[in-house]
This record gives sequence, structure tokens and C-alpha cells, in this order.
Amino acid sequence: MRAVDDMEKDFTERVEQDLALIEDYLSKAFASEPRYADLQEAMEYSLLAGGKRVRPVLTLETCRLCGGDPMTALPFACAVEMVHTYSLIHDDLPAMDDDELRRGRPTNHVVYGEATAILAGDALLTAAFCHLTRAQLTAGQIAAAVACLAQAAGSAGMVGGQALDMAGEGRALDREELELLQSLKTGALICAAAELGCIAAGGSGEQRKQVRIYAQALGRAFQVRDDMLDVTSSEAALGKPVGSDQVNEKSTFVTALGLDGCARLVDRLTQQGIEALESFQTPEFHIWLANQLARRDK
Ligand code: IPE
Ligand code: IPE
Ligand code: MG
Ligand code: MG
Ligand code: MG
Repeated sequence: MRAVDDMEKDFTERVEQDLALIEDYLSKAFASEPRYADLQEAMEYSLLAGGKRVRPVLTLETCRLCGGDPMTALPFACAVEMVHTYSLIHDDLPAMDDDELRRGRPTNHVVYGEATAILAGDALLTAAFCHLTRAQLTAGQIAAAVACLAQAAGSAGMVGGQALDMAGEGRALDREELELLQSLKTGALICAAAELGCIAAGGSGEQRKQVRIYAQALGRAFQVRDDMLDVTSSEAALGKPVGSDQVNEKSTFVTALGLDGCARLVDRLTQQGIEALESFQTPEFHIWLANQLARRDK
């Protein structure tokens, strides 16, 4: 039992160290840019508002898992967080989920207006690709990272999933439609976060394949849990509104499977993800992370 407790403490400390690196990088990312109207302020308002930073931690730790130095993956990690933050700013807009609280603060458009919120999202997305190029890695690794993130964020990935999500409002989607929607809107970027870590480590094709299987399962479980929390949690715990999916008449895993069915699915996906780690020498952190995310309450 003690060994388990020690491991837990090590991993919590490791996450804290990763978070310190990530917060430091993000806080400096736009600090020396000229300020144009309230654009940079709006970008930093959402980017530096906390958030769990699951994706950048996954990038750093997957770099370590594949035998690399996590520091080399830091620009990649923070680039993913910029794309994620942009996706949240746009997801909250009146034209989309029309939510007014995010990361415990009024949403970007509530504070800065819709035009600036759209532009802040646009700028974060663009900046992400600039930051990929700042990694101290080979041109081949950077090109692979650009391709990976672009594919995951765009119309064949996250944006495609958001399009399906919006088109599905007011309709009961079947299981297959839901799986596709969720693996695109959330799974694709989580998968890219992990793959970028593998790319930074110079990992093999086989490592990247296993990382992808792990992260796909993790990403799907993450969104099922997000759907559950929209029903079971509170605004104070989540830092975002609850009940938003119902108000917007979204089909979610909760509407499809009920809460018990969701809990079973999260467990099954978590196990599936963990099984993909078999060939790695030190998979313990990733096993722990998958279990933590399956049980998360925010
Ligand atoms: C929320 O993501 C949106 C989804 C894709 C489910 P997170 O739950 O990672 O949000 P933050 O980054 O912690 O705010
Ligand atoms: C959003 O899904 C996924 C993306 C932003 C790409 P949700 O709409 O369920 O996310 P929350 O619940 O608002 O964080
Ligand atoms: Mg949404
Ligand atoms: Mg939303
Ligand atoms: Mg949600």
C-alpha cells in the first residue's frame, strides 16, 4: 500500500513540476508582443485563467514515456493548449453553446465582446503553429508536429467534430454518430497532444501507434466524463455552467446510455487505453493519469 501512496505522491509532484513549466511558458508567450486594441489582453484572459492543462501535461509526459527530455516538448505542449483555449473561446460563443462562464470566469465574449473573442481565438490558433516552430528539434520533427496538430485541429478533427455537434442539436444521434462526433471534437486534440510528445522524443513509428491508441481511448473517456459532469456536477466545481447540453438539446453519452452506462463506458475505455501501454518500459504515470481522469470531478 505504501508503494502505491509513494507513487501517487511522485506523480502528483511530477504534474506540479510540469504545470509550473507550462504556466511559465504560457505567461510569457505574448508578453513581449505589441498590444493591439484589447486583442492580446483577451487572449491572455482565457489562456492564463487556469484550466487543468491535461493536454500539455500529456505532451510532456508522453515525451518522457518515449525516452525524450520533456523540456524539448514544451513549445509543442503549449501550442496544443493554445489550440484548446481557442476552441473553448469559440465553443462558448452565442452562435455555438452560448455559455457565460469558463474556467471560473465570465466567458471571453462576455468580457470583450464577440468580435474580439473571435479574433482572440483566431490569434491563439495561429500562434500555436508559430510556437511549434520554436522547439529546439529537427526540421523533420517540427514538420511532423505541424502536420499532426493541423490534422487534429481542423475539419478532419476537432472543427469537424464541432460541426457535427452543432448539426446534431435538437436531434437524437445514434451511438455511432455520437462516437464519431466525440472522438473528433475532443479525442483528436488529446490524441495530437500525446503524439506531439512522441514526435519530440524522436519515438519510433510503433511507439507513436501505441501512444495514439492510448490517447484515443483516453480522449473518448474524457468526453464521456465531461458529458456526465454536465449533469452531475456544479458550476462551482467545474468553473463552467452545468446543464448546458440539455439547454442546447445536445445528444450526449448521458442521453444515449444514462449515467450508469456512461460510468461503465469510461471504465472500459480507460482499461483499453491502459492495455495499449504494454510495450512501454515505464507506463506507470500514464496508467495513473488515465485512472485519475476517469474519476475526475472537474
Ligand atoms: C473542456 O476541456 C472541453 C472538452 C473538450 C471536454 P477541459 O475539461 O480540458 O477544460 P479545461 O482546459 O480544464 O478548462
Ligand atoms: C467542446 O465540447 C469541445 C471543444 C471545445 C472542441 P463541450 O461543448 O462539451 O465542452 P464544454 O462542456 O463547453 O467545456
Ligand atoms: Mg460544445
Ligand atoms: Mg460547450
Ligand atoms: Mg461539455
